[in-house]
Amino acid sequence: MILIDGKKTADEIKKEIAEAVKLIVSTGKRPPHLAAVLIGHDGGSETYVAFKIKDCEEVGFRSTLIRFEDDVTEPELIAKVHELNNDDDLDGFIVQLPLPKHISEQKVIEAIDARKDVDGFHPENVGRLVLGLPAFLSATPFGIVELLKRYQIPTSGKNCVIVGRSNIVGRPLSILMSQKAVNATVTVAHSQTKNLKQVCAEADILIAALGSPEFIKADMVKEGAVVIDVGTTRVNAPDTKSGWRLKGDVKFDEVAPKCSYITPVPGGVGPMTRVSLLQNTLLAASRNI
Ligand code: GUN
Repeated sequence: MILIDGKKTADEIKKEIAEAVKLIVSTGKRPPHLAAVLIGHDGGSETYVAFKIKDCEEVGFRSTLIRFEDDVTEPELIAKVHELNNDDDLDGFIVQLPLPKHISEQKVIEAIDARKDVDGFHPENVGRLVLGLPAFLSATPFGIVELLKRYQIPTSGKNCVIVGRSNIVGRPLSILMSQKAVNATVTVAHSQTKNLKQVCAEADILIAALGSPEFIKADMVKEGAVVIDVGTTRVNAPDTKSGWRLKGDVKFDEVAPKCSYITPVPGGVGPMTRVSLLQNTLLAASRNI
């Protein structure tokens, strides 16, 4: 069994990005610039956005954090999105989700200029992905495909089962995995799938992205399978300083011995998701600067 080290791979990619930034700056241009819009004080969102800002610093990007309180109105937020769309000093930006209930996520996402949508959530980018055109790819699917590529894991003709059909992970990942560059035969399983255990047990590549801690057990995994765990649920852990720890969707201890490759949580897909946002921002900058 080979443990896929997402942290190490993401660090390698960060070094490559930092080199690209040095080259841009050496020609007298400004460094790539990412902005993050954060609404409210949700612990998870605060942590994710802080990581995104720190990642920017590490590779030499400029970053800007824009904060609103929970009671911001939808028109106020959309006005800020329009302002960022028109800011020539900015290559890309994200609006951290989830949003407060009184704001439509879809309306906000659709207000973002697709050329600055480094999350890859805008319908134009999703549509371009489906058509195989150049697009900003949603960060987690992008990171997973990059991990498989960098570990030289064979994918062509393989049976890939994705558990979960979210707009951010499962659905775009199913498109990427079936594209010619990857060539997997893809099944998207979900809460209504019959014989889920059997479907999973037939996977050469099993990707768990349903957000249910330790859902995938050893009897759902084929001997020699590649298992990619996208789950990052915070569970109570009184023995830790923070009071919580991250749990994946895979029961790691019993599944790992059956795998040819497996990602841990933390340190697997998570760091790759973060670095994908940097890759998208670099791409946005190369189009804009
Ligand atoms: N919330 C959870 N993941 C993400 C992400 O990748 N982008 C944004 N904008 N919000 C999120």
